[in-house]
Amino acid sequence: MSYPEVRPRRLRRTAALRRLIEETRVAPADLVLPMFVKEGLTEPRPIASLPGVVQHTRESLRKAAAEAVEAGVGGLMLFGVPAKRDEVGSGGVDPAGILNAAIRDVIAEVGDSTVVMSDLCLDEFTSHGHCGVLAADGSVANDATLVAYGEMAIAQATAGVHVVGPSGMMDGQVGVVRRALDAAGFSDVSILAYAAKYASAFYGPFRDAVESALVGDRRTYQQDPPNLREALREVALDVAEGADIVMVKPALPYLDVLAAVRSAVDVPVAAYQVSGEYAMVEAAAANGWLDRRRVVLETLTAIRRAGAQVILTYWAVDAARLLR
Ligand code: PBG
Repeated sequence: MSYPEVRPRRLRRTAALRRLIEETRVAPADLVLPMFVKEGLTEPRPIASLPGVVQHTRESLRKAAAEAVEAGVGGLMLFGVPAKRDEVGSGGVDPAGILNAAIRDVIAEVGDSTVVMSDLCLDEFTSHGHCGVLAADGSVANDATLVAYGEMAIAQATAGVHVVGPSGMMDGQVGVVRRALDAAGFSDVSILAYAAKYASAFYGPFRDAVESALVGDRRTYQQDPPNLREALREVALDVAEGADIVMVKPALPYLDVLAAVRSAVDVPVAAYQVSGEYAMVEAAAANGWLDRRRVVLETLTAIRRAGAQVILTYWAVDAARLLR
């Protein structure tokens, strides 16, 4: 061999050397915990396809939110499951609706000690399970849906949320939500835009978690998995419309999209490690086929390495404890 010899293994010899040259670190503050609250529940209810995740009662949600803050997570993302649904998803707009009530509860519990976020979408509230209202021909009506999103944003902001997360993939949703918030005096409420959200089969367990009524799919509004340039166009539109943070979803199967988005924008980039990503690892670990702890940390590290500053993950509290 010629000298000086390049020997990369020199820097891998001890744990201390490896730690010194680590290029990517995951911290509890990078992680956001998605949480479900169901109207009328008296006991937290386990979700079979998401072992370790529950539908909360209003009371257990408050307690779990406080525990997550204690573990050091960076934020909470709230999803509401109403007792009743209707064609237009009025439970999402109703100030007394489960999600808006839960926002008030959680804010009363944790205040500004973490970042409280809420899903801004109609799918949990509509009887047909779509993310918007339907036109006469059964298609999802973009602009009529935007009107509802604007009202929902104001309801969530009034309840005290720090960040709203429009996730319905309607055209123009970020701009409409920004204008609605500003006009109602909520110019300090931030928008986490689900900017590149794919029509993914990895959302299966989430639909159990919210008892989704959806028949069919969301392919006319969520993105087609083969497309990357389209994600950059969606992200550019959302940034121009006023998104404060942009998100790619799912995470692990879309690391190339995440990396491209990271290099295209200067706003913070988030990734959503979705229910199916979680369920796959949990199922394999329960069979003894994977080392759960190592796989969880490896996936989070990979998502950070690809460019996500913030990660929404059902492991947020577990991982925060592992990382401390
Ligand atoms: C829509 C929404 C969904 C998820 C987050 N927000 C469901 C969907 O688009 O069908 C999925 C999250 C997950 O799978 O963990 N409100």
